[in-house]
Amino acid sequence: MQCVVAGAGYVGLTTALVLVEKGHTVVLVDVDEARAQRIAAGEVPFHEPGVEPALKSALTTGRFSTGTDLAAPTVTADAVFLCVGTPARPNGDADLSFIKAAAKGIGRGVRRSNLAPLVIVKSTVPPGTTTDLVVPAVAKASRKSEGAGFHAIANPEFLREGRALEDARRPDRLVVGAFGAEAGQRLVELWGHEGVPVVATSPTAAELIKYASNAFLATKVSFANEMALLAASLGVDVYEVMRGVGLDPRIGAEFLRAGVGFGGSCLPKDLKALHRFARRRGKPLRLPRAVLEINERQPQEAIRLLEHALGGLADKSVALLGLAFKPDTDDVRETRALPLYRALRAAGARVICWDPLAVKNFQRLVGDPVDATEDLRQALTGRDAAVIQTEWTQLRDLPADDWKRLLRNPVVVDGRRSVDAAGLVAAGIRYYAIGAPLPPS
Ligand code: UGA
Repeated sequence: MQCVVAGAGYVGLTTALVLVEKGHTVVLVDVDEARAQRIAAGEVPFHEPGVEPALKSALTTGRFSTGTDLAAPTVTADAVFLCVGTPARPNGDADLSFIKAAAKGIGRGVRRSNLAPLVIVKSTVPPGTTTDLVVPAVAKASRKSEGAGFHAIANPEFLREGRALEDARRPDRLVVGAFGAEAGQRLVELWGHEGVPVVATSPTAAELIKYASNAFLATKVSFANEMALLAASLGVDVYEVMRGVGLDPRIGAEFLRAGVGFGGSCLPKDLKALHRFARRRGKPLRLPRAVLEINERQPQEAIRLLEHALGGLADKSVALLGLAFKPDTDDVRETRALPLYRALRAAGARVICWDPLAVKNFQRLVGDPVDATEDLRQALTGRDAAVIQTEWTQLRDLPADDWKRLLRNPVVVDGRRSVDAAGLVAAGIRYYAIGAPLPPS
């Protein structure tokens, strides 16, 4: 099949590469010319395991190219995938301007096409967007109608950063929100995933499945964080509690890790968008707001533990370990490192930041000069305390004796349960974690 993918971010590039692996021919289009050229030269614009070799191999097939014009490749396409960003507006609404612009470009191509292509919305969009925005925009620019000149389908993506390629190659479900069963079946065949359950539904239901999935994941995390407060006050460890809870298959063990909260480009953004969307429809939801409020509180829990351990933060030197919103990425969007950094600075601490990949992105995010290093030992040397924000393996791999020897004052506050706590304690570290009993003073 001839495919066009609009948007060369995590979802777009990964989608394009998996389509090439499935034997299709793909043109990946991005409005950013430099980005499109870099990708054509084999360079991946972000850190994502496995993507660079997959890109290199796609480039050798002769079935993968990049460009900046959406209309021209759409003329001969069987399927066009919309993978552009839907960032949050300052008020929390999803910004659909990239979707609109891309839909227009696709429509201009559809106008000259004889193939009645599938127009597939993979971007995360508020329920109703495919029906109320994408279809009219493509129809207007193409002067053709849905179901005849093109077939619109909402086919949300569930991949995780850090495992994007694996997730896209082997999804746990394929949600196909089509207006007609035949078009939906064409998409299922195009993907050709074997043994993957298909949820065939309407476009609006497919869009809500995506929002509801992310909202539920975030709810699990905030639930664990609520229990963390109570557990610590009872002198028990929330990780033990959640292990006992998560063994119930109806609940599941995943996403019950308490800590400094969830970050990333999706969970916080989608929750805010869902909250505002529901309110605008006159159906305000109570959970998303509560889940976000709990999440905002969590970095403060780490600060509270640090203050308790050090008896105040003024003029203390603190290593902030991990800037990426999670390991195996250089992505700092909505990272909990930002509120932690700001709170530490506001309390008068001197902060040295460490991350193996995300230092530059974090410096850009903060704006002001940030004291930062990619050398973990340097970050720890002579500090009064360390606070862990990302569970990088480098932290677990550092011998306990090194933690003890390098830190001036052996205090570690672990916001992600990312190190061998017993080992550190045995080496003489005062180890604090969110949702755990305080160490003996
Ligand atoms: C999330 C979803 O997991 C994907 O299914 C979805 O496709 C994606 O958003 C998206 O909508 O594009 P991602 O943002 O890559 O994926 O990150 P997650 O692995 O979900 O982690 C999000 C945050 O939650 C991280 O900061 C992580 O540290 C935190 N987290 C996760 C916890 O604090 N506790 C947990 O138990 C699990």
